[in-house]
Amino acid sequence: MSYNIQITKVEQSRVDTLDFDNIPLGTSFTDHMFICDYDNGEWGNPRIEPLKPIPTHPAAMALHYGQAIFEGMKAYKDSDNIPMLFRPYQNAKRLNLSANRMGMPNVPEELFVEGLTELVALEHHWIPPQLGSALYLRPFMYADEAFIGMRAATRYKFIIMASPAGPFFSKRIKLWAEKQFIRAAQGGTGEAKAAGNYAAAIRPTELAKAKGYDQVLWLDAAEHKYIQEVGTMNIFFKINGEFITPKLDGSVLDGITRKSVIDLLQDKGYKVTERLIAIDEIKEASKNGTLEEAFGTGTAVGIAYIQSIGTDEGEIYISDESPVGIDVNDTLNAIKTGKIEDKFGWMTKIEQELA
Ligand SMILES: Cc1ncc(COP(=O)(O)O)c(C=O)c1O
Repeated sequence: MSYNIQITKVEQSRVDTLDFDNIPLGTSFTDHMFICDYDNGEWGNPRIEPLKPIPTHPAAMALHYGQAIFEGMKAYKDSDNIPMLFRPYQNAKRLNLSANRMGMPNVPEELFVEGLTELVALEHHWIPPQLGSALYLRPFMYADEAFIGMRAATRYKFIIMASPAGPFFSKRIKLWAEKQFIRAAQGGTGEAKAAGNYAAAIRPTELAKAKGYDQVLWLDAAEHKYIQEVGTMNIFFKINGEFITPKLDGSVLDGITRKSVIDLLQDKGYKVTERLIAIDEIKEASKNGTLEEAFGTGTAVGIAYIQSIGTDEGEIYISDESPVGIDVNDTLNAIKTGKIEDKFGWMTKIEQELA
């Protein structure tokens, strides 16, 4: 371990107050957080301390100019109770890609992963043992310099919080293909996990929900013709035996579940193509019976099956007779919990002494 992370522990853990069989969504947090400050061109004072509110100056630049980015990932336990992280260096790389786009400093990958591993080693008793549950980890960075004016901030905080997450029982979801609002345009911030991208999606998602849909299916900004992604998921279709997913063109988030699912599908012998996919192509495939399956992929849900896509011209129905995605999801979960061999080398075991 190369960083000298100072650890201040809570006097009394709150873990006994959590009902692991009924974990509330997004509202329970573990005892501690990892925190590190950026000032004078470098990261310093990496520490783990009791989770608590952070005093914020009203002129903190993140609040005005939106320099705020985040990551989402999960820690699991294997059958010997060893905590494990799923592809943490991928999240470190993506955080830095987001940081570059938003004019923010990079977090050294080793600091990112060391902060995660030290925090999870301390909070391992918060990892829910139930099948499908995990400890959700939220690394994020924001500008906390007090300054009114448009330029990159000079002071930032990088923080990691942890929140136990229950199993996600996915019903087949209904998507609304959005043509009025867009998520990302070429040259914009679509491939960054920037807080503002999510703010801009809130209203369109509310409107889609009011129409009876679960999530928005985002289309390209120029023509409203090509499929990008869904809410907080990438998307896959199976047409005539072949899987297709929108190519990464700078306006789609490079999902870590997406890249893992591509590897697993190929390993299982399926052809996977990353390319432009027009919504009309999906409509046609649904009509002529070649659309065999469609699902979203993301850290929160793993794989979420899609039932139908609503468009201005009517509903596109998706068959549920080819559940390859369920098989891929089972394989992914078995790798994440150490039940099958990790032949891709995706899991990082937390080897240090557990608190
Ligand atoms: C916009 C968006 N697309 C896709 C994803 C899926 O990415 P991942 O598989 O890394 O969770 C997410 C979730 O982070 C997301 O927010």
